[in-house]
Amino acid sequence: MSRSLATALSVEGNRPSRCALPPGLDAARLPAHVAVIMDGNGRWAGQRKLPRVMGHREGVEALKRTLRLCSDWGIGALTAYAFSTENWNRPGEEVSFLMTLFERVLARELQALEQEQVRIRFLGDLEQLPEGLQQLIQDATDRTAANTGIRFNVCTNYGGRRELVRAARLLAEQVQRGDLDPEAIDEQTFASQLFTSGQADPDLLIRTSGEQRISNFLLWQLAYAELHITDVLWPDFDEAALIAALMDFQSRQRRFGGVDSLPS
Ligand code: IPE
Ligand code: IPE
Ligand code: MG
Repeated sequence: MSRSLATALSVEGNRPSRCALPPGLDAARLPAHVAVIMDGNGRWAGQRKLPRVMGHREGVEALKRTLRLCSDWGIGALTAYAFSTENWNRPGEEVSFLMTLFERVLARELQALEQEQVRIRFLGDLEQLPEGLQQLIQDATDRTAANTGIRFNVCTNYGGRRELVRAARLLAEQVQRGDLDPEAIDEQTFASQLFTSGQADPDLLIRTSGEQRISNFLLWQLAYAELHITDVLWPDFDEAALIAALMDFQSRQRRFGGVDSLPS
């Protein structure tokens, strides 16, 4: 690790201080919640004739960079897609490398996350992850739960369809027990059964490496997100790439099914 979050941000007492926004960005119109599909690690490694897993290692640096910048600029939440329910289909060595990488990074970064007031959570079917990783996840979640800074959601063994099925099952169980009237199920009730319960939906989805698809990510929560697709491969995602995504976001007219407001 080149730089920890703790040293990257200036710390006043227990609270990180904000750095100035780059010129051209409007602080009042930043997304409150950014989601990112971190794609292109394998291709980044391939271009350098390195094994795919080296791309994952470098991808961690890009994630730390992105979290630091989002925190610095006052973005309230960052949700990153780290491992999908479909990623188990990869070669066994790649999957086990990723699981070990998650463990190492979490153990190494936890103290910095705590100091920087980051609230880390892991979204997905966590009970299928290796035991050691599950323990680290529990520890990191507990130790940062009372923090007051950026919310950092790491989607691990996450699948959007699976999340929706799980929510339906949880509601069905409540109905079966007699605790819930099916007539009372509305969008809010449904959303309360998702992993993201209590959190606002992402305003901006970034996907790197040029792929134009959702890949089973946050199928419910992305209903009205603005999409920014960049050809940048995830390990190369840097401050300039994040600024470009935020500028793109700020150029959009969000209508939510309504009509543009007339110029005054
Ligand atoms: C994203 O990079 C990381 C994970 C899905 C874990 P990829 O590994 O998918 O990289 P490409 O798409 O093969 O280049
Ligand atoms: C999406 O990337 C999953 C993550 C970034 C964790 P993939 O590389 O798995 O997506 P596909 O297979 O190209 O759709
Ligand atoms: Mg990929």
